[in-house]
Amino acid sequence: MSVELPAVRLSAAATLLAAGAVLLTSLAAPASEGVDAHALIEKNCTSCHGSEMYTREDRKIDSYSALETQVEACNTNLDTGMFPEEVEAVAQRLNNEYYKFDR
Ligand code: HEC
Repeated sequence: MSVELPAVRLSAAATLLAAGAVLLTSLAAPASEGVDAHALIEKNCTSCHGSEMYTREDRKIDSYSALETQVEACNTNLDTGMFPEEVEAVAQRLNNEYYKFDR
């Protein structure tokens, strides 16, 4: 008995963890779909630079993955911070509007 009890507790804990993971996933999915990338850019990015940064002659970004990396880098300069799915949505919007990389 003394051997079985921890095993039962453990499996109960595992079930709880799994339930938590499912819950987190279902919470995250609608969030990424409902992200308003335009509003995020207006709110978080225009304090430092506007769209001229994305269209400047000597812009540095030359691929979609570089774009994602740069958005993430700028994001870490912000106090508020964005969730990964928001960074993704912002990168996608900038790509659609300005960069037009193949993905
Ligand atoms: C704290 C100031 C700051 C904030 C806030 C900021 N950026 Fe930047 N960003 C910069 C600077 C400075 C550069 C130029 C970096 C360089 O030339 O190496 C830059 C460059 C970029 C570039 C690369 C432009 C190019 O093609 O050369 C992208 C894309 C970009 N930012 C996106 C964003 C997005 C999206 C946000 C909002 C989430 C944001 N930035 C917020 C400072 C900021």
